[in-house]
Amino acid sequence: MKTIYAVGTCLSMIATCLLANHQMAATKTAATMKPLDAKAAANLVAQGKQIVQQKGCNTCHGANLAGKAKFSPSLHSNGVLKQYNPKTWARVMDVGITEDGGKVKKPMPLYHLKAQESAALYAYFKTLK
Ligand code: HEC
Repeated sequence: MKTIYAVGTCLSMIATCLLANHQMAATKTAATMKPLDAKAAANLVAQGKQIVQQKGCNTCHGANLAGKAKFSPSLHSNGVLKQYNPKTWARVMDVGITEDGGKVKKPMPLYHLKAQESAALYAYFKTLK
């Protein structure tokens, strides 16, 4: 009787320990996942900002990228970006084909950006209001 009781206690201790371990692991995963995603998003926005500086989008689209009257559209989230989805955005930034299938007019340069660079710009412009 005593042995069975001892084995029983021992097994339940192991079970408790395993459960606690599992819960700790689960909490740790949840805790480390979130900041990673936020960090990746922040990195993308930072890269977008950098591309804007390198390419000088603001010389034509205004210091704050809100566009210039009768010249260039706003690149803010509520500006020209509203017409585009990430895919058509990547296309206009690569080959200069607009959302409606037209061609971007000069002097807007043709940048031939990589998909990743376009994604960074898209993420950055989405933060501009
Ligand atoms: C030399 C000036 C100039 C620079 C530099 C420039 N743009 Fe433009 N951009 C324009 C002009 C002008 C238009 C309007 C042309 C048109 O209506 O087709 C335009 C239009 C656009 C459009 C609208 C396309 C559409 O759907 O009509 C987007 C998007 C855009 N620019 C993004 C950018 C980005 C991003 C950069 C930097 C990487 C940039 N531009 C740099 C002059 C410029």
